[in-house]
Amino acid sequence: MADQHPEIADLLSEHRRFDPPAAFAAAATITDPGLYARGAEDPEAFWASQAGELEWYTPWTRVLDWAPPHAKWFTGGTLNASVNCVDRHVRGPRRNKAALIWEGEPGDRRTLTYFDLYRQVSQFANVLTRLGVRRGDRVALYMPLIPELAIAMLACARIGAVHSVVFGGFSAESLRDRINDAQATLLVTADGGWRRGAVVPLKQMADEALREAPSIKNVVIVQRLQGSPVPVPLQEGRDHWWHRLMMDAPLTCDPERMDAEDMLFILYTSGTTGKPKGIVHTTGGYLTQVAATTRWVFDLKEDDVYWCTADIGWVTGHSYLVYGPLANGATVVMYEGAPDWPARDRVWEVIERYGVTILYTAPTAIRAFMRWGTEWPGKRDLTSLRLLGSVGEPINPEAWVWYHRFIGGERCPIVDTWWQTETGGMMIAPLPGLTRTKPGSATRPLPGISAEIRRDDGTDIPVGGGLLALTRPWPSMLRGIYGDMDRYVKTYWSRWTPDIYFTGDGAKRDADGFFWVLGRVDDVLNVAGHRIGTMEVESALVDHPQVAESAVVGRPHEIKGQALCAFVTVKEGVHTSDVLAAELKDHVAKKIGAIAKPDDIIFAADLPKTRSGKIMRRLLRDIAEGKALGDTTTLADPGVVARLKDQYQGTE
Ligand code: WT7
Repeated sequence: MADQHPEIADLLSEHRRFDPPAAFAAAATITDPGLYARGAEDPEAFWASQAGELEWYTPWTRVLDWAPPHAKWFTGGTLNASVNCVDRHVRGPRRNKAALIWEGEPGDRRTLTYFDLYRQVSQFANVLTRLGVRRGDRVALYMPLIPELAIAMLACARIGAVHSVVFGGFSAESLRDRINDAQATLLVTADGGWRRGAVVPLKQMADEALREAPSIKNVVIVQRLQGSPVPVPLQEGRDHWWHRLMMDAPLTCDPERMDAEDMLFILYTSGTTGKPKGIVHTTGGYLTQVAATTRWVFDLKEDDVYWCTADIGWVTGHSYLVYGPLANGATVVMYEGAPDWPARDRVWEVIERYGVTILYTAPTAIRAFMRWGTEWPGKRDLTSLRLLGSVGEPINPEAWVWYHRFIGGERCPIVDTWWQTETGGMMIAPLPGLTRTKPGSATRPLPGISAEIRRDDGTDIPVGGGLLALTRPWPSMLRGIYGDMDRYVKTYWSRWTPDIYFTGDGAKRDADGFFWVLGRVDDVLNVAGHRIGTMEVESALVDHPQVAESAVVGRPHEIKGQALCAFVTVKEGVHTSDVLAAELKDHVAKKIGAIAKPDDIIFAADLPKTRSGKIMRRLLRDIAEGKALGDTTTLADPGVVARLKDQYQGTE
């Protein structure tokens, strides 16, 4: 891509290292390199001092209780997450500070102060209680990116209910499966949301999901589409309008005193099997790490205007749109819709309008912005920006340098943050006033975090490439997979010894100790920053009546990072065609959601298999990438590959 941008070629070749800009470093919160040493010398004392920044009802008696692979942090301590995110601020000078500055895709705008948030969270907590939700119950949230989503999360936290947010782009079936797995008793949704000028009919999809989700007793619906022609039939006794319930909800609600280890939320993410995993996060450790990393890595200051472009349906939205920034009393911008609606300068327009100072987005978005051209950001005043963040996938150096020059005006540090749904908070990222950065590297583990590059046999690789391992427990680590402790142990803690966490990522460490995360080494793909399990897509494909077998692999994609390439064999007598290919793509969208739609469907007479019947994914990847064939001597029928390859090249 650099050839399309001769302006960045010099930056790429000239200096591959970027020191913190002097003006930024001079005003940065963290400038003491001793923080790394303190985190390494006594991680427990270090994290305890961070936990001390939160408000607790009763202090913990033990910082860490580690019986590998099961950790408890801050045991004996009690606190409430909504109190930490809202009540604390209302008692002081932040009372009337903007907490959420929200903009809907059609252009509607709302600002909620901390007091507004306090009021609505308390009221909605009472609504939940009145509908029978009790401490420990699970509440499913299937909503557009509107303030009510954050309010509902915090209201759950206030009464000790566990929220399970399901991204609004997921299908009815995905919602149904997540509700059933968690046995949620109440669903909060909306009549719909807006995406690229079209209505996303959330309530309609929810109704479809609820036909086979008997645990749900009540549904609360936010009215987002006033005046839209989409009909929203209400089911008597089950469905309630949000605004009606809020009208007569009591104004205050005593928060529950939660144990540090009480569950705060479940968030489903894809793994290497067909079934998504319900990642469990608890209260004290999670809040400690997301609050601390928000302060350090974003250098958050009282008057910052912070914008994280992620949807709350993903972990980034949980940790760095809701809990981390609100725990710090930040002003958070929230934008509902697409970045190119109505025009390709929407993101820059939002930054200009609100004077955004910190922007946290994904490499896939940055690559799309690059492709759209510098004239779009060039039209807008971006001088308010002082720090830029990246998350979700490896950022290619070209995109990094473009972001630095054209968005950051060469004055903003870039923080490339590596972490996962499972880690809850950031793990490898720079401290922007302190850490020298290299485009494409997330730099070093944060203070208090230990990571290594390991060989398959478990030995450490001080310099070089291997598997990324986390070698000490951390406060915001997942505590389990909901309802499946065995899978938790097997997936994450069985690669080496039970005290070492396997990330699923390959990475290398250079001679300066910098980590370069290269991507997944398992059957998980990262498409436009979203995690997709190949098995899930394969199951969706074979669910189609005309499909016999399928194998899904990733291939490099200029904007999305990876694209989904599905090899499909059809049943006897089925005629393959473009029409069938389109139908299969739609079938996957219906089963999982539009994000999992394959980019390519390649019909094959057979799939290449080893003599023991295992599909040879490596070969399929090579074919999908258009590479020369690898070693095919282990193939049961070597002719299969040659035929496949001819066919695929024929489709280009
Ligand atoms: C996977 C986790 C972290 C929140 C969003 C994604 C990849 C994430 C980076 C980064 C290189 C990254 C990894 C990781 N990833 N951030 N800065 N550099 N790779 O959360 O859906 O749980 O996915 O995203 O492969 O394992 P997720």
